[in-house]
Amino acid sequence: MYQSKIVGIGHFVPENVVTNKDIESLMDTSDEWIQERTGIKERRWVVPGDGNTTSSMGTKAARKAISQANLLPSDIDFIIFATLSPDYYFPGPGVMVQKELGITEVGALDVRNQCSGFIYSLSVADQFIKTGMYKNILVIGSELHSGGLEKSSRGRGVSVIFGDGAGAVVVQRSENNTHGILSTHLHSEGLHAEELALIGPSTGRWVPEIIEVNDPNDTSYYPHMNGNFVFKHAVVRFSEVIMEALNANSLQTSDIGILIPHQANLRISQFIQKQMKLNDAQVFNNIMHYGNTTAASIPIALSEANEQGLIVKDKIVCLAAFGSGFTWASALIRW
Ligand SMILES: CC(C)(COP(=O)(O)OP(=O)(O)OC[C@H]1O[C@@H](n2cnc3c(N)ncnc32)[C@H](O)[C@@H]1OP(=O)(O)O)[C@@H](O)C(=O)NCCC(=O)NCCS
Repeated sequence: MYQSKIVGIGHFVPENVVTNKDIESLMDTSDEWIQERTGIKERRWVVPGDGNTTSSMGTKAARKAISQANLLPSDIDFIIFATLSPDYYFPGPGVMVQKELGITEVGALDVRNQCSGFIYSLSVADQFIKTGMYKNILVIGSELHSGGLEKSSRGRGVSVIFGDGAGAVVVQRSENNTHGILSTHLHSEGLHAEELALIGPSTGRWVPEIIEVNDPNDTSYYPHMNGNFVFKHAVVRFSEVIMEALNANSLQTSDIGILIPHQANLRISQFIQKQMKLNDAQVFNNIMHYGNTTAASIPIALSEANEQGLIVKDKIVCLAAFGSGFTWASALIRW
């Protein structure tokens, strides 16, 4: 069996910075409340008409990752795209990236696992590489949340948290079996599917029905989140899945060189850090500047950590996520 290695990382975020102060003018909230509960200071929201879409941001991040890998788009033999905010209901954004990059006829897979989507995608890439099916797989996480948030006091529990952006990596076949992706661990619990969800429009609530009823109190087309419930499950599942990855590789928390948790909420990251007795240098957070970018948060954070020189050879990099589904996942990498 082959080993898989991340050989290129890139990210792209829209230029438009939206601070908590800016949000105060849209709804009844405060910079103090947002920072105290989430750690978020600002996020990026696309400006309508600026040309940014989920797939175009993903493409920009992908170009950087491919270039860093010293490859050409034509070297990519499979694309995996994770998002909960695709450009279209169908087709998924994987094929749009393929078109933009001019990559002809390779497979493009769209993954729908929300905040865990990037790690699920990385896991799929890892399996395809290990079995020898593909050599260079492009894995993208991208989200454009801002257009679909309820930017009023009614939606404040959700809308202050989410931001737009994209990250991408190139996963490559390697013959070095001591370095690269050591293991991935995937879980879900559909019992809590509706605790963090966007119910309609969907096949359960088609658009014509929503238009016909035209109920101003219908919030089903905005994301719904039972924040407290999500928080309580997140802190347990994050720790469990990180320990599962460490145990699978006979490693301990002290072996973690850097933990890049999905940037759900800074308070969740801090809770895990404390619970696992990790020092500040072992945990990377950038939610302060981007909010929660769902499937894009881990590759954006990985890319920034890499730019800061924190992702170096031999380091144990742990990725972990929890989110809607519920789904949760981890990946352990020896760089
Ligand atoms: C969303 C979250 C920050 C809310 O924090 P919380 O402490 O649970 O807050 P609550 O929802 O209990 O609300 C507390 C109060 O703040 C209010 N509130 C909610 N959003 C607010 C906002 N943006 N600004 C000001 N007040 C707000 C509520 O209305 C409530 O007021 P009340 O006590 O008068 O009823 C928190 O639950 C959380 O981070 N959950 C996990 C979210 C997450 O990680 N999601 C993604 C998973 S991938």
